[in-house]
Amino acid sequence: MNLFDVYPLFDIEIQRGQGSRVWDSKGQEYLDLYGGHAVISIGHAHPHYVKAISEQVARLGFYSNSVQNPLQKEFAHRLGKATGYEDYQLFLINSGAEANENAMKLASFYNGRTRILSIEKAFHGRTSLAVEATANPKIIAPINANGHVTYLPINDIEAWKKEIEKGDVCACMIECIQGVGGIRMVQADFLQQLSKICAEQDTVLICDEIQCGYGRSGKFFAHQWLGVKPDIITVAKGICNGYPMGGVLISPKFTPVYGQLGTTFGGNHLGCAGALAVLDIIEQERLIDNAHNVGTYIIDTLINEKAQGRLPHVVDIRGRGLMIGIELDIPYKEPRTSLINQEHIFTGCSGTNVIRLLPPLCITKEDADTFIQALKNVLV
Ligand SMILES: Cc1ncc(COP(=O)(O)O)c(C=O)c1O
Repeated sequence: MNLFDVYPLFDIEIQRGQGSRVWDSKGQEYLDLYGGHAVISIGHAHPHYVKAISEQVARLGFYSNSVQNPLQKEFAHRLGKATGYEDYQLFLINSGAEANENAMKLASFYNGRTRILSIEKAFHGRTSLAVEATANPKIIAPINANGHVTYLPINDIEAWKKEIEKGDVCACMIECIQGVGGIRMVQADFLQQLSKICAEQDTVLICDEIQCGYGRSGKFFAHQWLGVKPDIITVAKGICNGYPMGGVLISPKFTPVYGQLGTTFGGNHLGCAGALAVLDIIEQERLIDNAHNVGTYIIDTLINEKAQGRLPHVVDIRGRGLMIGIELDIPYKEPRTSLINQEHIFTGCSGTNVIRLLPPLCITKEDADTFIQALKNVLV
């Protein structure tokens, strides 16, 4: 059997990782500023994480959601404390798309409506409603094009207000820093006004923190820079450092109903043990502060280098913490490929012209300097 060939692949096989570094099958070391698409939060193969999941799988990897699972309760308690959302409720699933799917489902159960507002260029996943909320017609199959979603311009409060005041909007789905959309940032005054209008109209405000959350922006959640409290927050990616897991944080105004949501694998023992270890490491190593400090250093240094004329082709640098977009006036393809093949640095990308940095939250200023020099080398 062949693999279903949907991924354009680099001809590189990554075999091993440690911290912010990975090694390929030929023994070549790379600096990982991509984190396997924003998934690696605490760094590769962290010993505390390895020990926690190894010991858990040796004890009990999985049992179903039909019995007590104290690890889930412990994780909910710890996540509440870490995020400042101690009064919220947690539903655990397996991926980002599934988190968004359940968030929108919950919103619809809550207010009985079926219409979603989403930002132009948004990416919310590939399952049926999540993909409809994703503003990319190429990945919306005819069976998913059900007319539930209206896409609106980022930060244009009048456009959003006009739609919400029609009274039929179930939920607004917001990535406070768009990832796939090219590191486009939601502004505080927009989100604050949106939150107010949503509350007035009983529309549910959902923040998709799957890429920009879990410490990446330099606060636990990106929306925490913007002074709002969403009704529902979705997380995945960094939550378990690569073990598939997602979560929905749900405000107390939603009442759980037996059987309304469910999953076979979500919240299993192994995932919870891994997610608890991730929180331990984020806290002990102050990784959110590190994301803020190193991210600010990268952004400031890049802006300064650009001002000095030392970054040809760079037209904009934007982002927050360790979620950074470097927009070029040329396609990213050649410089990104040179960064990998010549400088041995993995980066992400968006659209056609944006290099995207999504490194593990443990990278150092020395790693940042290595990247900045490498970028100068490939952009000459
Ligand atoms: C903002 C955002 N939402 C949702 C998803 C979907 O997550 P998953 O691929 O785990 O389903 C992604 C994945 O890249 C994402 O970046």
